[in-house]
Amino acid sequence: MTDLVRASFSIEEPLMNQLEALVKASGYANRSEFIRDMIRARLVEETWERNEIAVGTITMLYDHHQRGLSHKLMDLQHHHHNEVLVTTHVHLDRDLCVEVIMVRGRAEEIKTLCDTLRQQRGVLHADLSICSTGLELKG
Ligand code: NI
Repeated sequence: MTDLVRASFSIEEPLMNQLEALVKASGYANRSEFIRDMIRARLVEETWERNEIAVGTITMLYDHHQRGLSHKLMDLQHHHHNEVLVTTHVHLDRDLCVEVIMVRGRAEEIKTLCDTLRQQRGVLHADLSICSTGLELKG
């Protein structure tokens, strides 16, 4: 970890009040750590906007009674074998399955996979949680 430097900046009072409220509501011990994490989150978003190699998880809920769906979902994951790292499948109840798919690859490829999974009939929810390889976040 690199040394910390002190920074000062100007901000409108109402915006500063909102920042303090966000810090408090988020449970952060101090403003500095909140701002550092906000910057890191923005840097991760930028790696996705620039279509760089990224990491993420897709969480998908689906009806396992839907004819042919399990096979189709597996086919799609095989088609993206370069991006799919691991899949965890849970039989939620008699009807529903949830899968968490960990992915690494070009941001656009990952988004396409998530969108395609979501569009299948019988998929009730599919959403992407973005992360990065961490290269831009190392101190
Ligand atoms: Ni299942």
